[in-house]
Amino acid sequence: MSKRFVLPRLPYGEDALAPVISAQTLSFHHGKHHKTYVDTLNNLVVDTEFEDEALELIITATAGKADRAAIFNNAAQAWNHTFYWNSLTPKAPSQPKGELADKIGGAFGSFDSFKKEWCRAAASIFGSGWAWLVVDNDEVKIAKTRNAEVPFTKGQVPLLTIDVWEHAYYLDYQNRRADYLKAVIDKLLNWEFAAANLEKGEVYHAPAPVEVH
Ligand code: FE2
Repeated sequence: MSKRFVLPRLPYGEDALAPVISAQTLSFHHGKHHKTYVDTLNNLVVDTEFEDEALELIITATAGKADRAAIFNNAAQAWNHTFYWNSLTPKAPSQPKGELADKIGGAFGSFDSFKKEWCRAAASIFGSGWAWLVVDNDEVKIAKTRNAEVPFTKGQVPLLTIDVWEHAYYLDYQNRRADYLKAVIDKLLNWEFAAANLEKGEVYHAPAPVEVH
């Protein structure tokens, strides 16, 4: 008997993030793109040492290994998308509080400066990638990764992410990536999720594989 990864349910309805992210985008992005990464990963790990292992372990063990690139890419994309859905919330726009607010203020001067800097950094990613807020040596930092790459293979703890692949915004914004980024940063970020990640101080655990019969 073996275990398989299952596509996690969205933490909200497909129409909950509109108009910033439409139901059509969420339907394709979660139901097709994210699902394909999960399905492909399940097929790739059959009869390997990674069968039944946690997603974070698979990612860490395969990062930077050319002969494991397919497993890394699909595992990391499965993890990144689960983390992205949780980085967003349809609740009223919120702001960081407490320790997280203090760290952002200390690192960027103000919350507004941070938002502008994150938007600029994310917009500058060439091609596909991810924009992150991370903790690195007890300081909050902006990070950018290419394609499927994750910050935690470099020792950084992710607090929030934004998907900067075209499939995340093209149906709603076409080539206007900066408009998508600004709207997400202003209206959808889940600062409670970020604070919980900061408090735990460890890499978020995506759902583990489950028994299938
Ligand atoms: Fe995506």
